[in-house]
Amino acid sequence: MKILVVGGGGREHALCWKIAQSPLVETLYCAPGNPGIAELAECVNIAADEIETLCEFAQAEQIDLTVVGPEVPLTMGIVDAFQAAGLEIFGPNQAAAQIEGSKSFSKNLMAKYQIPTAAYQSFTEHADAVAYIKEQGAPIVVKADGLAAGKGVIVATTEEQAIAAVDDIMLDQVFGSAGASVVIEEFMDGEEASFFAFTDGKNILPLASSQDHKRVDDGDQGPNTGGMGAYSPAPVVTADLHDEIVDSIVKPTIAGMAADGCPYSGILYVGLMIKDGKPRVVEFNARFGDPEAQPLLMRMKSDIVPVLQACARGELQQEAIEWHDKAAVCVVMASGGYPGSFKKGLPISGLNDAAQIDDLMVFHAGTSLQEGQVVNNGGRVLGVTGLGDHVKEAIEKAYQGVAVISWDQVHFRKDIGARALNRA
Ligand code: AMP
Ligand code: GLY
Repeated sequence: MKILVVGGGGREHALCWKIAQSPLVETLYCAPGNPGIAELAECVNIAADEIETLCEFAQAEQIDLTVVGPEVPLTMGIVDAFQAAGLEIFGPNQAAAQIEGSKSFSKNLMAKYQIPTAAYQSFTEHADAVAYIKEQGAPIVVKADGLAAGKGVIVATTEEQAIAAVDDIMLDQVFGSAGASVVIEEFMDGEEASFFAFTDGKNILPLASSQDHKRVDDGDQGPNTGGMGAYSPAPVVTADLHDEIVDSIVKPTIAGMAADGCPYSGILYVGLMIKDGKPRVVEFNARFGDPEAQPLLMRMKSDIVPVLQACARGELQQEAIEWHDKAAVCVVMASGGYPGSFKKGLPISGLNDAAQIDDLMVFHAGTSLQEGQVVNNGGRVLGVTGLGDHVKEAIEKAYQGVAVISWDQVHFRKDIGARALNRA
């Protein structure tokens, strides 16, 4: 088979790494890819949102299956375009990708199908939003309706902060059209976890549990990021809780989407808040998590390609995924300053040394090559992922890798996996 992976971050590096191991794969392409992916796949210089060009490439190369990593092409309708051209593709179509692309869409779906989540209201009028905040009081959460690269959510501890967030989103339009409407919801406390399930629109195939670390600094301090590290399994998700998430959240979501004439296929990402053993949905995403994909895919024993293909074809029969009985921990090495501004083009050392370490993968995210030298080129730069017999060993392995890699102003958290250790 010829497979094309769309995207160029750590998640896509992990996907390419896993897909490349399948005996079914003859040629693997990645668009646009990155220098790490280039060691496994043929990188094609087409951006992930150039849908027409990607479609032309897939037709010309007779790609058998395209796998989409990031949300932006999904919400732009890449799946619809490929399917119209008779090409097989893994991911939800544009209508179904609204589950991530529009907070109002996903909140309405949850309300309609009684899926546990925070109480909320949507607003298109600034004055109404402000009045609601005053009525509800703080803490309260303000969300821009559309995609805002993970920055459109403000967890406000005071009414003033919440109103300032509504001003920024609706009056100053800091997230552009993503802020034409806002969702204001109840603050949920508890422990977060990420839950993923493959689906063909009818059947579901859950993955192992995982958890990421969203805040930039140790001890969950500082601003939210795309994710500073992740581990799998997540002990907070017990076997009973796993079943409850599947029954009370994943199944009714997939059934509800189908009943609404908007069947969802691909991978469903459920962001959860767990309190007193009860799960509630924080958000849905229409794709794999990044960095959760890195530890999950390192633990996955089953061939991923038949699963991706079955989802794309609406023929998902497989009932379970086999996992390595190991823990995996991914530590993200980021550019100093991220999620704010940072310097690019700084040379990264130690990658060859890290490559010598067993049970360790250094997944590239924001890197590029300058005259043969790997340099940083984005906020999250590398996802150093270790496998171990248990979480403590996986943490040690990942940090063993981190210790040999460096560049000027590198930033990483030193407590990735600590919550899992506390529960172990
Ligand atoms: P989202 O983009 O919806 O995942 O939100 C980003 C982050 O904001 C989440 O991972 C949570 O840490 C936090 N968050 C979002 N909604 C809520 C909520 N209702 N209560 C508490 N924290 C929330
Ligand atoms: N790790 C969070 C995300 O992928 O959105």
